[in-house]
Amino acid sequence: MSFRIQPAPPARLNRCQLFGPGSRPAIFEKMAASAADVINLDLEDSVAPDDKPQARRNIVEAIGDIDWGDKTLSVRINGLDTPWWHHDVVELVERAGPRLDAIMIPKVGCGADLYAVDALVTAAERAAGRERRLAFEVIIESAAGISHVEEIAAASPRLEAMSLGAADFAASMGMATTGIGGTQEHYYMLHEGARYWTDPWHWAQAAIVAACRTHGVLPVDGPFGDFSDEEGFRAQARRSATLGMVGKWAIHPKQVALANEVFTPSDEAVAEAREILAAMETAKAEGAGATVYKGRLVDIASIKQAQVIVRQAEMIAKG
Ligand code: COA
Ligand code: MG
Repeated sequence: MSFRIQPAPPARLNRCQLFGPGSRPAIFEKMAASAADVINLDLEDSVAPDDKPQARRNIVEAIGDIDWGDKTLSVRINGLDTPWWHHDVVELVERAGPRLDAIMIPKVGCGADLYAVDALVTAAERAAGRERRLAFEVIIESAAGISHVEEIAAASPRLEAMSLGAADFAASMGMATTGIGGTQEHYYMLHEGARYWTDPWHWAQAAIVAACRTHGVLPVDGPFGDFSDEEGFRAQARRSATLGMVGKWAIHPKQVALANEVFTPSDEAVAEAREILAAMETAKAEGAGATVYKGRLVDIASIKQAQVIVRQAEMIAKG
């Protein structure tokens, strides 16, 4: 182990992030009443160019007017290559009030992108006398973003979460796909005439998880476009959870329960984790560093694996 201790990510739930267009205020109350841990009101790609100013006004008003409970409340701003993002930032910081927790920056390509937004947010916060510092979320959804993922994860003390945005990522990479996440028909291995589908998102997810874990940031899986395909969503989310991601976006309210189901450890998993911790306590008391649990090796590393599950269960129990 390096002498540097891996920093803990923010201690908050992030199992599901529910998105909704800022130009559709009729759904804001429904979003607030949902079971998502995080709400992302969107100013970016779900809002048409002509609707951006009105969407900003809708969002500013709703942040103050709606009871968002104890959810993390975030607004996705426009990308740094647009004429809208600096107005998004300034209006949100000056007018949205203290309930806004975070802004999400899409299509980040390098650490300096966060530095630039941080500089603007910091100046706007000082000018507005805003005492609570806004947090950042970013989306990795370009070739540049994934190439500089570690630099981005380290770029700002405001950064709390990083998502993979499958659709823009695929487009930027020139991938021959049109689906937003999930299994891709032509990505398979052939063995004795049979096709075995593999996961084209795997390497990008693993890179994001590693960068995030190095710098104490929450790694999150982004959208799954086909909201009629519940099993497809579950399969994608389970792969993400297995790789170390803490949650997934919902782009339709139907997906919230699915994400919460996958990213909430089951009672059996929690019970087993607690049993492993107990078995290791007994082993330690007997001076052993390893023991046998249900016919398999558990050792000091197993304590850390079990603690990931138990800590998540404790955070969920606290609500
Ligand atoms: N959050 C909360 N409620 C939502 C919702 C959302 N994102 N999207 C739809 N609803 C509500 C609808 O108002 C409707 O409510 P009702 O039963 O009270 O009438 C119900 O959920 C069912 O909606 P449905 O008719 O199936 O969907 P729709 O055609 O109204 O909208 C989408 C479908 C995909 C356009 C919409 O869900 C959406 O805009 N999603 C988010 C897109 C987004 O933000 N993208 C950016 C990130 S990739
Ligand atoms: Mg995108």
